[in-house]
Amino acid sequence: MLPPKPKGIATLASSALLVVTLSAACAQTADQAWLRPSTLEHRPSISLEPRALGFGIMEENAVRELKDGNARLLDGSNDSGAGTERVEAILGTFDEVRQALPNIPVPPDLAPEGYWIYWDPAASKPRLVIAGADHPGLLYGVFALFRLIATGQDIQQLNVRAEPAFHVRWVDQWDNPDGTIERGYAGRSIFFEGGDVREDLAPVAEYARLLASVGIDGCNLNNVNANPDLLKHSRLEQIARIADAMRPWGVHVALSVALDSPQKVGGLTTFDPKDPAVKAWWAAKAREIFALIPDFAGFTVKADSEGQSGPSLFGRTPADAANTLAAALAPHGVVLYRSFVYNHHLDWTNPKADRARAAWDIFHTLDGQFAPNVIVQTKEGPIDFQAREPVSPLFGALRLTPQAMEIQITQEYTGQQRHLVYLAPMWKEVLDFDFRIPNNAPTTVQAILSGLAFKQPTGGMVGVANVGRDAWLGSPLALANLYAMGRLAWDPGLDPEAIAEEWTRQTISNDAQVVKTVDAMLMDSWPAYESYTGPFGLQTLTDITGSHYGPNVESSERNGWGQWHNADEQGVGMERSHSYGTKFVDQYPPQVMRLFDSTVSTPDELMLFFHHVPYNRVLSNGKTVIQSIYDSHYEGAARAAEFMQDWESLKGRIDPKLYADVLPQLEYQAGHAIVWRDAVVQYFHKLSGLPDEEDRVGTFPGRLEAESAHLTGYKVVDIAPWEDASMGKAVSCEDTIACAADFTFNGKAGYYNIAVQYFDLRDGVAKFEVKLNGQSIDAWSANATLPSIIPNGDNSTRRTIPGIALKPGDILRVEGTPDGKDRAALDYIEVTSSSSPN
Ligand code: GCU
Repeated sequence: MLPPKPKGIATLASSALLVVTLSAACAQTADQAWLRPSTLEHRPSISLEPRALGFGIMEENAVRELKDGNARLLDGSNDSGAGTERVEAILGTFDEVRQALPNIPVPPDLAPEGYWIYWDPAASKPRLVIAGADHPGLLYGVFALFRLIATGQDIQQLNVRAEPAFHVRWVDQWDNPDGTIERGYAGRSIFFEGGDVREDLAPVAEYARLLASVGIDGCNLNNVNANPDLLKHSRLEQIARIADAMRPWGVHVALSVALDSPQKVGGLTTFDPKDPAVKAWWAAKAREIFALIPDFAGFTVKADSEGQSGPSLFGRTPADAANTLAAALAPHGVVLYRSFVYNHHLDWTNPKADRARAAWDIFHTLDGQFAPNVIVQTKEGPIDFQAREPVSPLFGALRLTPQAMEIQITQEYTGQQRHLVYLAPMWKEVLDFDFRIPNNAPTTVQAILSGLAFKQPTGGMVGVANVGRDAWLGSPLALANLYAMGRLAWDPGLDPEAIAEEWTRQTISNDAQVVKTVDAMLMDSWPAYESYTGPFGLQTLTDITGSHYGPNVESSERNGWGQWHNADEQGVGMERSHSYGTKFVDQYPPQVMRLFDSTVSTPDELMLFFHHVPYNRVLSNGKTVIQSIYDSHYEGAARAAEFMQDWESLKGRIDPKLYADVLPQLEYQAGHAIVWRDAVVQYFHKLSGLPDEEDRVGTFPGRLEAESAHLTGYKVVDIAPWEDASMGKAVSCEDTIACAADFTFNGKAGYYNIAVQYFDLRDGVAKFEVKLNGQSIDAWSANATLPSIIPNGDNSTRRTIPGIALKPGDILRVEGTPDGKDRAALDYIEVTSSSSPN
């Protein structure tokens, strides 16, 4: 919910709708996500016939959604046919419904944006009432109706009321005016191109529709590392077109602003937030924006962080900066001031230095100093969207300030949408975390964000979505995260598994076997990813100074970024305890502090985040730390391999296109999980010198290293970091037009799967061919777009050729033809027995 809106919106919105509906047929539509044709096996034999009680663009959209939803139920037409019961669907706001139907029990107490869906048993003809506390509420009610039908609810029993738990339910886009998206993994921006807003905003309207369908009502359009140019008048006029496209769906736009804008675009000599000229500049800028976008939602601010200028330059605090912007935006807009403020030049030799401390250290003393329309926006954990972090202690410390939690839908550190990772269980854990603050019952994060715990008027949840032009999130299954974010921001009490089921039923199928299989895949995906990347609170163990994608265990160490895990020969983990460490634990209220302060009570999954422990320390899972690290990686990679089999079991039961789109992604993930597994276990095995009880680490049955093959043209190269290649080495076709590696098979005769581990570099499309005794058995182009332009764990890729008959003495030849900078590098082949021929 936003502050009251100025008049004039309805007219503006009507003309906007005209523009949007007249625009060319849109290639990117919401039905690529969950607003799909019905997946119901047994469609209800009803046809909904809308009767709108009022006017306005959102009410018109509600009617259109009802008709579209009905057509989806009726298999694409609005022709109900014989045997179908016609149901009058009354659509209106509460006031309109009360006037038109004085006898029905409209709830008197629904909050703004709430809705009520009611089957009227007293009506003479079948009648369903969908009423909203306001226009957005009505729209949400229609979307909710189809969600309820899709999940098998009996329409004739409906008496459902709902209202949003959080006022702030926003997505952030990190789009740049040039059309790129920071940490976006689904193509270019749907909003911008070449410095301007795009002509075709049809995808933007579809995006808004998608957001509205799960109750999201705000969209911050641009990168938090903000380009000040967007505040120029000519750009703001263009941004007003985006606002026009989103408004009919109840989605309000906001902008990230750079604090030095008064200097950069305003020509002032300073951007000191307390300078009267700076205050006047922001006030004038806000007026200019509201004149173009009357329902503008507000500003998001990243300052004094990762190179962004901020108030510290003038000896001012974040509250000083936030309040200057807040005064400019009042009474209609809000400031979401990010607490992601830290020094990225920390002294790594200082055992007391700790990046995790930064947000609390800087912000907790400012509690009570922020203007009422400032909301402090905090990432869910104290570091930066890692595969696992504890809850940020700041949530429990700001008791006089509205707060929003920032989470990432875009999977920056969680597989970049190439890995299936359903994040709702992670977010839910944080939402349910209880700070156990005496006399505040309960003080769960969700109670804090809703404003209930500390009696704040607003608060909520912001998801960094970064949708792009490539089917929204690039990967069909990744859309479950966007869906889940909206659902949890509306109702944080929901169960992630129930959300997964809802999403699956609407998106994929209502078939019980499909639902069961997909839900299990989704629910297992975060634990699996965590297990094969950075378990036990190690954080993601990815390339922290580069791509944030593949393994690079040491990249976090010995630099100022402060994502240290402090692995050495004896042990691993950051000591953050009160007595021996950085005292980060002291930032939590006493009961929580005690939980994390002791190695006895710290849960295994966070042990190495809070404590530096020897490798032979036994965890509560009964195993040593080192054995836990080994086991976790093997288990996680094994589960990733099963995802592919799970999906294969759905062949013939689901949309063939969806099946075909997802299968190669899961195959890729299974291969990359092995890259992760091998890198991390290899690293810790070497560092600790401790064996794996199960003898897996360092022994790879069937693996034949490329550097030991008979090479023609290929040269042996060292891979950096060394753990990203088997035994640290690979072969690369550096100076010739084609190379080959010959491997002699010495196993027993039988059928085998042959995995080829190669590096698929971005700049060039190398070709590979595998020959058995001179006969081609497989050939492919290495045309994936993976991070990094040198061979490493970002682009190490596996291709498996199943069920090949081999006998001792057979020669397997891998031929590589480089292209550009992609030098057809090869790590190894792995020959493992197969139960059947291909
Ligand atoms: C991460 C991310 C950056 C982003 C930053 C932020 O560090 O890698 O791209 O700018 O978070 O949230 O501000």
